[in-house]
Amino acid sequence: MIPIKNPEAIKRMRESCAIAATVLARLKEQVRPGITTYDLDQIGRDLIASFGARSACYGYESHSRRFPAYTCLSVNEEVVHGIGSLKRILRDGDIIALDVVVEYNGYIGDNAITVPVGAISPQKAQLLKVTEEALALGIKQAQVGNRIGDIANAVQTYVEAHGFSVVREMVGHGVGRSMHEEPQIPNFGRKGTLEKIKSGMTLAIEPMVNAGRYQVRTLGDGWTIVTADGLPSAHFEHTVLTTDSGPEILTIPKAVS
Ligand code: MF3
Ligand code: CO
Repeated sequence: MIPIKNPEAIKRMRESCAIAATVLARLKEQVRPGITTYDLDQIGRDLIASFGARSACYGYESHSRRFPAYTCLSVNEEVVHGIGSLKRILRDGDIIALDVVVEYNGYIGDNAITVPVGAISPQKAQLLKVTEEALALGIKQAQVGNRIGDIANAVQTYVEAHGFSVVREMVGHGVGRSMHEEPQIPNFGRKGTLEKIKSGMTLAIEPMVNAGRYQVRTLGDGWTIVTADGLPSAHFEHTVLTTDSGPEILTIPKAVS
């Protein structure tokens, strides 16, 4: 069953998502050549704490491992779930995906962007643009009466028309009291398939797009997902509320404290 949020849950989702978005916007401002991903993660930790929120990534358990960082920071060929490291110094020309997931008042907000470090190649710039636009097109399909496959198909069609590929092994997801709720939201598939969208769902839509082939593998740290071909990858994500008047993006920064 896909959870339908009541007005109280929606109110709390709005708050956690606004915090997640504000943290992400401020973290983005810190990206520059020379900074380590460890330092970025520490800044993320402090930003999350400054809102009285908690990182939903830190200690997140999967396959009996606990995620050791406060944010997910994935550079170049890293797709998602990169772990900040003192050894990873950002360089001019890199791209970095920043994924911020916070819990506030029992509800979770989840969002991600991929940003350039200094001046990047035209191919990387195109990858960022196409992935962000694919997210927007996916969100547009989050209409009451549509199906999850309509989101998936919109993302895949757009990405592949631009010569890139969508990652298949990881998917978007419902989000609420837990980070991952039903339904799964793949970034590939056929129109008119999967669950029907109803009003009051909160969905994390998150295309992960590879410049080359879609295959990925996991690094020895057990978390970091990288492209199998070593080519760059991008990731954009919003948490969206479905309403009778269309999708509403909840992960919009708010001018708070
Ligand atoms: N946005 C990612 C997801 O939905 C965040 C993962 S957090 C981590 O899976 F705990 F896995 F690091
Ligand atoms: Co997510």
